Amino acid sequence: MSRLFSSFTIRGQEIKNKCWVSPMCQYSSEDGFSNNWHLVHLGSRAAGGAGLVMTEAAAISPEGRISPNDLGIWKDDHIDGLLKITNFIKEMNAIPAIQIAHSGRKGSTHKPWEEGYSVPDNKGGWQPVGPSSIPFDNKSVTPKELSIQEIKDLENKFANSAVRAEKAGFKCIELHMAHGYLVHEFLSPISNKREDDYGGNFENRMKFALNIVKKVRGAISENTILLARISATDYADNGWDEYQSVELSKKFKGLGVDLIDCSSGGNYSKQEIIAEPNYQVKFSKKIKKEAGIMTGAVGLITEPDQAEKILKDNEADVIFMGRELLRNPYWPLSSMKKLDGNNFPPNQYLRSF
Ligand SMILES: Cc1cc2nc3c(=O)[nH]c(=O)nc-3n(C[C@H](O)[C@H](O)[C@H](O)COP(=O)(O)O)c2cc1C
Repeated sequence: MSRLFSSFTIRGQEIKNKCWVSPMCQYSSEDGFSNNWHLVHLGSRAAGGAGLVMTEAAAISPEGRISPNDLGIWKDDHIDGLLKITNFIKEMNAIPAIQIAHSGRKGSTHKPWEEGYSVPDNKGGWQPVGPSSIPFDNKSVTPKELSIQEIKDLENKFANSAVRAEKAGFKCIELHMAHGYLVHEFLSPISNKREDDYGGNFENRMKFALNIVKKVRGAISENTILLARISATDYADNGWDEYQSVELSKKFKGLGVDLIDCSSGGNYSKQEIIAEPNYQVKFSKKIKKEAGIMTGAVGLITEPDQAEKILKDNEADVIFMGRELLRNPYWPLSSMKKLDGNNFPPNQYLRSF
């Protein structure tokens, strides 16, 4: 039996395989609500055989959205719609997961398929916030620097959103701390120039992330799986780097994070990334080995043998897949057939696989 398609258990929850849906913004919500699109989109990937199906970044506050059409988890009214989705994912014997997020200085932007960059206030936009008043690039709005009280409020909003996520039936929560969004902005010396307890030295820059983990872990059930997605490097001199990622991951492990989802980049506008197959696997390998925590690899992993080799070589514990699963939601079912000679499609599809 392949590693990719053997089951394993985290916090008492058996997960049928290690092929997991990576979070992907759908820009299809109004006021943060999920709708038919989310049910069909996430439901198809669950029917397609993924072991864990993760939503896109769901905002912990309206200002924490990237675009005005992001999914949200900032109010109880969001729960009912999400519950329909998690129920279906569970019917497919997959784990429903949600990524919770705040966009920080990269908030209030248009959907990628719309013209323009920042959305002005009179068109449903808002004033983005950040650790310091430093814009991401010369197209971006300058963020408002958060006060200490506002930072503490946001830490609580992460915890409140996590509790709401559990009420909506999610069994796994991922904290979005990558890609140049708010938590990453606090971690990185490129975007965090604060001179108080939340900035300056390495310990202070980690404070927001660590407080979020403490508050979220303290608020959710022992059985809920907690993941953190980080950008392992800024690809910049004097930025956030692999060494700091390992140290942060060690602290996360001590605080009850179960697995680090290892991505990279997004906080330095001049970054140069050579995006080739497995380009981020080295981060997963390093963090797994040096921090002694489970990791997930992501980024241009598209072939069953490729995914299997990463797991066999002990470079990751699970594989997150993004665009390949957009192209083909049935990738897990057909790949399992290829690797193991059998698979378990929904009964309705038995005659086709
Ligand atoms: C349409 C789209 C939306 C995305 N939205 C998110 C997101 O909400 N949160 C996140 O952490 N990453 C997001 N990503 C990044 C993916 O999760 C993934 O890390 C990236 O696409 C690389 O993996 P892949 O080569 O398998 O697609 C998005 C990617 C795509 C293509």
